[in-house]
Amino acid sequence: MPCTGTKTRQGVTVTGARKLFIKTYGCQMNVYDSARMAQALESGGYETTSRPEDADMILLNTCHIREKAAEKMYSELGRLKPLRTKRPDLKIGVAGCVAQAEGEEIFRRQPMVDLVVGPQAYHRLPAMAQAAGAGKKMLDTEFPREDKFDHLPKPSAGRRAPAAFLTVQEGCDKFCTFCVVPYTRGAEASRPAPRILAEARDLVARGAVEITLLGQNVNAWQGAADDGPWNLAKLIRELSRIDGLERIRFTTSHPNDMDEELIAAHGECEKLMPYLHLPVQAGSDRILKAMNRRHTAQGYLRLIERIRAVRPDIALSGDFIVGFPGETAEDFEATLALCKEVRYAAAFSFKYSARPGTPAADRTQVDEDEKKERLTRLQALLARHQAEFQQAQVGRTLKVLVEKPGRKPGQMAGKSEYLHAVHMPADTGTLGRVVSARILASERNSLSAEPISGCADS
Ligand code: 5AD
Ligand code: SF4
Repeated sequence: MPCTGTKTRQGVTVTGARKLFIKTYGCQMNVYDSARMAQALESGGYETTSRPEDADMILLNTCHIREKAAEKMYSELGRLKPLRTKRPDLKIGVAGCVAQAEGEEIFRRQPMVDLVVGPQAYHRLPAMAQAAGAGKKMLDTEFPREDKFDHLPKPSAGRRAPAAFLTVQEGCDKFCTFCVVPYTRGAEASRPAPRILAEARDLVARGAVEITLLGQNVNAWQGAADDGPWNLAKLIRELSRIDGLERIRFTTSHPNDMDEELIAAHGECEKLMPYLHLPVQAGSDRILKAMNRRHTAQGYLRLIERIRAVRPDIALSGDFIVGFPGETAEDFEATLALCKEVRYAAAFSFKYSARPGTPAADRTQVDEDEKKERLTRLQALLARHQAEFQQAQVGRTLKVLVEKPGRKPGQMAGKSEYLHAVHMPADTGTLGRVVSARILASERNSLSAEPISGCADS
């Protein structure tokens, strides 16, 4: 876009439209944050590009959960160096949890970086970008008291994808001893109910059929409303009144915050999809205690029983860590036993890796080869359960929200109510509709299907 001169938007003076490239690492929360950062910077005169070589600013939106996140970010910055040398005007920023955790260290190790912004300060990005443009090094990793969402612009006009994400809560007070989130995302903070409802209505007006409520500890959400604080169950009930919104999901939950009302909602609320991501991390009480999870394996299994009592077909998924400091072969067997009892529809499993600054990082570590072997065994079991759950769908009719064209011509792809990826022969007219589809086969990570009537019927 040509230079359009100097103008003032949101109190920030900018010159022309410049190009912004954001590389996003990690979870849906980060994908959502990247979209909001792009919108914030739009008001500062930037438009997004998918080509880093065209960009005037490159932002790395980092995630600290995964292993060696900081090293990976420094390597990525190293790879950007030639581009920056060729184009000294190019601005480079680091956002997200690694930015929060590393702070000034980033400038020290990579002096070419212009701005470092933590997840709580994205609304300040336009001003920071402007100052960076004037040659200043900008750092903001404070945890402000105000709601950053109040300051971020609303999603821009135009139709959106049928499945949208909506952040309702951030941060975590649980302090599991392996986890950086309480340090990088700060204390639990819930957005007020009216703002969430307004954003949801807005998303639906722009074409969203499904909304996934996001939060690091989403079921701890406690939002202010006119008639006092609401819990997540109440929010879900209110959201389900929105015409045009057909599906509601939420992630990620802590077992201890699954209250009675939220469990009941899974049996009562038709729009709440029968899928629940409920990480347990380990099956040994000794390890759960060392992780500071504050629940036992039996407590977790009883909770699953209660959820299944109200929604017998619910698909459950979980997160697991193997080789946590002090985990013996026997402890690990307890994790396998728990998995066999639950039979997860899907799961995410990781080798423990020390995150500096967290309590478990300084404990005696399990041998790396042992960790690898345990992870291989656990993943084989989880894959078997996932395959069984998928296979059980063959011959059934599922409702598929069509989200995008499939990989092959004449194919569309979407998600079942159980969050399976489903592809089927259909035309683009089905986009954004819920289609009844007969499941024909289970593939590695997806299901193939044929539409029954081709028309929306949810
Ligand atoms: N090592 C390995 N896995 C971790 N997770 C979080 N921190 C660590 C760590 N230090 C996993 C947990 C969490 C998921 C998002 O990432 O299983 O639920
Ligand atoms: Fe981290 Fe989740 Fe534990 Fe919070 S509850 S500390 S986000 S693993």
